[in-house]
Amino acid sequence: MSRLCVMPGDGIGKEVIPVAVAVLQTVIPDLETVEVEAGWECFERHGASVPQQTLDTIRECGAGLFGAVSSPSYRVEGYQSAILTMRQELDLYANIRPVRTWPSISPRQNVDMIIVRENSEGLYSRRERLENDQAIAERVITRRASTRIAAKALALARLLGRQQMTIVHKANVLPLTDGLFRQSVLAVVEGAAQEGFALKIDELLVDVAALKMVAEPERFDLIVTTNLFGDILSDAASHWGGGLGTAPSLNWGDACAIAEPVHGSAPDIAGQGLANPIAAVLSAAMLARYIWDKSEAADRIEKAIIHVLGKENYQTELAQSTQKIADSLLSTLAG
Ligand code: IPM
Ligand code: MN
Repeated sequence: MSRLCVMPGDGIGKEVIPVAVAVLQTVIPDLETVEVEAGWECFERHGASVPQQTLDTIRECGAGLFGAVSSPSYRVEGYQSAILTMRQELDLYANIRPVRTWPSISPRQNVDMIIVRENSEGLYSRRERLENDQAIAERVITRRASTRIAAKALALARLLGRQQMTIVHKANVLPLTDGLFRQSVLAVVEGAAQEGFALKIDELLVDVAALKMVAEPERFDLIVTTNLFGDILSDAASHWGGGLGTAPSLNWGDACAIAEPVHGSAPDIAGQGLANPIAAVLSAAMLARYIWDKSEAADRIEKAIIHVLGKENYQTELAQSTQKIADSLLSTLAG
């Protein structure tokens, strides 16, 4: 039986997550859900953006679906973004961000890439300090984290039949840190090749990768990269899928995983029923595919999305209404 810990969070998270849950329940009728709090409002209420009970529930379920978190633009003592806390506390070390062409809304055809972003270290090490007039951030790269993200990328390549893996780094300027990342990834790939799993490997410096992401996005199949590079490249890449409204992600560790639309809490449109739930629905489908081993359910969801995106009134009418997209998806799945 699949169990899901539901965390709508802040802003439009509260509007898109119920749609994603309803869609999941349609394709996985025996899905068990439990809802818990996380985010900025949760911090204001309980003094923690991710209460212990939330962490325990995610662990128990093995799978979570998170909406979005608002963050104040001023420093608040004791506050850390909920998603960063969950990634860290639950050791969700891989962030899987697929970007593909969707009919009618994608500005380019034939894009189909998966960005595998290291999700536990790099410039997200939280080792930032002020020393008089200099501010220092430590970018931590370890062999352990680089090796396990490479292993995850390789496992995905196997599972999905991907042909090529591009290692993105900046080892020309960071020979020790990114040199270690690069070597660790290559070691994993070479080990797999010796066991008979051959994957085409290439590597790009992150600046060149950014240019190619704009000029030739079709060239990418699977990308493996460090935390901040993956953060930036995945936002850029999402443009080819039709923007953040359709960009899903999966934060994935060995014990549990949290699916999460890449978009934020969008305070400017929150509470108005305008948010596009597709990114949240696609994120939910990632749980079905990768965590619950229900690829048929995931395929059904993705097919329904393709159907809805292809409707004549999608751009003019449906895309402006959370409820209309929800109704359209649910009736497609029922039909
Ligand atoms: C993302 C977000 C987060 C990140 C923020 C909200 C901390 O941008 O999931 O990509 O930087 O990782
Ligand atoms: Mn980001």
